[in-house]
Amino acid sequence: MSTTLLSSPLQGFTDFRFRNAFQKHFGGIDTFYAPYIRLDGKSGIKSSYKRDLAPENNENIHLIPQVMTNNADDFLLVVKYIQELGYKELNWNLGCPYPMVTKRGLGSGLICEPDKIDTILKRVHEESDVVVSMKMRMGYEEPTEILEVFPVLEKYPIKNIAIHARIGKQLYKGGVNLDAFQDCLDTSKQKIYYNGDITSVERYREMQLRFPSVDHFMIGRGLISDPFLPSMIKRDSLEYPENRWEIFREFHDELYQEYDAALSGPVPIKMKMLGFWEYFSQSFSDSRKTYKKIKKAGNAKNYHKAVEAVFSNELS
Ligand SMILES: Cc1cc2nc3c(=O)[nH]c(=O)nc-3n(C[C@H](O)[C@H](O)[C@H](O)COP(=O)(O)O)c2cc1C
Repeated sequence: MSTTLLSSPLQGFTDFRFRNAFQKHFGGIDTFYAPYIRLDGKSGIKSSYKRDLAPENNENIHLIPQVMTNNADDFLLVVKYIQELGYKELNWNLGCPYPMVTKRGLGSGLICEPDKIDTILKRVHEESDVVVSMKMRMGYEEPTEILEVFPVLEKYPIKNIAIHARIGKQLYKGGVNLDAFQDCLDTSKQKIYYNGDITSVERYREMQLRFPSVDHFMIGRGLISDPFLPSMIKRDSLEYPENRWEIFREFHDELYQEYDAALSGPVPIKMKMLGFWEYFSQSFSDSRKTYKKIKKAGNAKNYHKAVEAVFSNELS
């Protein structure tokens, strides 16, 4: 059975600059989900979202936009915007776990409200021809919450339900709950994708063995901490390319140049790259030391020196 790999969106990381650089240097991802659009009570779409979805910024990429909302009007406004750009599908985020989101009944805070989900999906399907897909956790308080949502979703031609096998209140702590994910597979009549903690080829193989009916896997953090992972999964190989660290270095340099040109001032670029290094460092032999070295670099010159040192260390 051939596997489809999807890049699970990470707000602040997997924007169009990252996606393009990733695609050029690594590949292995079939479809990217864009980080969510949130209207926040404003009626317009923010320019950062517009840039991220602009077709000219995503030329060699199969991209699906995502929305986070609990309001049919906002949903439909985003549908109109993405359809004007030529997108056919909108992914609905019912996964975000952060209290400032969930307390307002958004993200995973909406899973316990099947009637509200129904009302929104009804209007979206009555008033547009957009293809809707879901990205969900299994609940906020309990992993059984999602089971009450499935009958609602089955009333609509939902393309797929990607499930991050955690509950909202866990945030990113603890493990994924694979028994509860199995309950989802046993209960839903719709297409389910697996998401959560795929950080190595071995881990992917375990998930594939445990859930043989699943053929779509979403990778989030693992794609940043080890960008070779999707192509290695596709090759079914544990071997990195011989020039692993050269490729990684070129990718890093391209990301740096892109963000340096887009962000103004030394602090934002430093913070941006440091965010990436929290993940990148996990690929390096001594993760803590690597991250500390990069973090300590106070200015751009020292940052480049630190980058040189950590890559040289892997090559020596
Ligand atoms: C920093 C960060 C930002 C995220 N942003 C989004 C987002 O915009 N939309 C979304 O559906 N999920 C978002 N997620 C969740 C991931 O897409 C993914 O579902 C989760 O990390 C579990 O998958 P993983 O273990 O492969 O990372 C985010 C996660 C993190 C850590």
